[in-house]
Amino acid sequence: MNKQIVVSGIRPTGYLHLGNYFGAVRNFVRMQEDFNCYFFIADIHSLTTHPTPENLQAGVKQVLAEYLACGIDPEKATIFIQSDVPEISELYAFLNMNAYLGELERTTSFKDKARQQPENVNAGLLTYPVLMAADIIIHKAKYVPVGKDQEQNLEMARKFAKRFNHMYGKKVFPKPKPFTFDGADMIKVPGLDGSGKMGKSEGNAINLFEEPGAIRKKVMRAVTDSGPTEMNQEKPEVIQNLFTLMKIVSAADTVAHFDALYNKCEIRYGDMKKQLAEDIIFYTAPIREAKG
Ligand code: TRP
Repeated sequence: MNKQIVVSGIRPTGYLHLGNYFGAVRNFVRMQEDFNCYFFIADIHSLTTHPTPENLQAGVKQVLAEYLACGIDPEKATIFIQSDVPEISELYAFLNMNAYLGELERTTSFKDKARQQPENVNAGLLTYPVLMAADIIIHKAKYVPVGKDQEQNLEMARKFAKRFNHMYGKKVFPKPKPFTFDGADMIKVPGLDGSGKMGKSEGNAINLFEEPGAIRKKVMRAVTDSGPTEMNQEKPEVIQNLFTLMKIVSAADTVAHFDALYNKCEIRYGDMKKQLAEDIIFYTAPIREAKG
């Protein structure tokens, strides 16, 4: 049987967190059953932040261990390290000849990174989406399971694939699409600091293997406000983020319960956070145990 090809990867820059899990790895585990999957460790991408060799090597092993603990089965899916396939860098060089400065500079992730690390705005950051396109199209992938934050990078991968095909008058590369099960929206997991997404570098993340005590502590410290003052008032971003997290890990009636309390101005954020922490702990228990 000819299975459809799937590619995705994660940068080895720290522990995997709930954002990586819900945006990506959870889908990897399900997809390996029915697709021809390539899941890799994007070590070349992580060089944009200049890790030491020790950190880089430890990070690669870490992600590998986490992939396995999450349930990616090397009998079912291909797991590899990006730098072990030099053809990816080769394709990256070719694709770079047809990638334009203007479009690369306009990428949101480039603008964000340039703001976060103004002392190190290197060319690798600029061409990050080109390398990512090479990762994907080298396998002629049809689907790419990633979180919402990667939407624009995927759009660029499609653009580069199309441009290459057009330029050489041949359908060499299919156009890769984002993948979620049952047509669900791509997931964006918010951070605990009230704004934006959960990220490794933002210091607002819950790691997949975090101990229950640490999870409770982090969730209880999550940013909130002084509470609603009017019935059915719209939720400010910090509060909406807590509800979004809860929707991901908790039962629907739990979310509905706190939503109703909010709307009646009777919510106590402490109670909500306690529940949220317990649900995160419950959800991540099998993964913690698999790591041993
Ligand atoms: N950019 C992705 C991230 O930061 C990692 C990544 C690199 C990737 N190459 C990829 C994801 C190819 C999917 C496909 O999470």
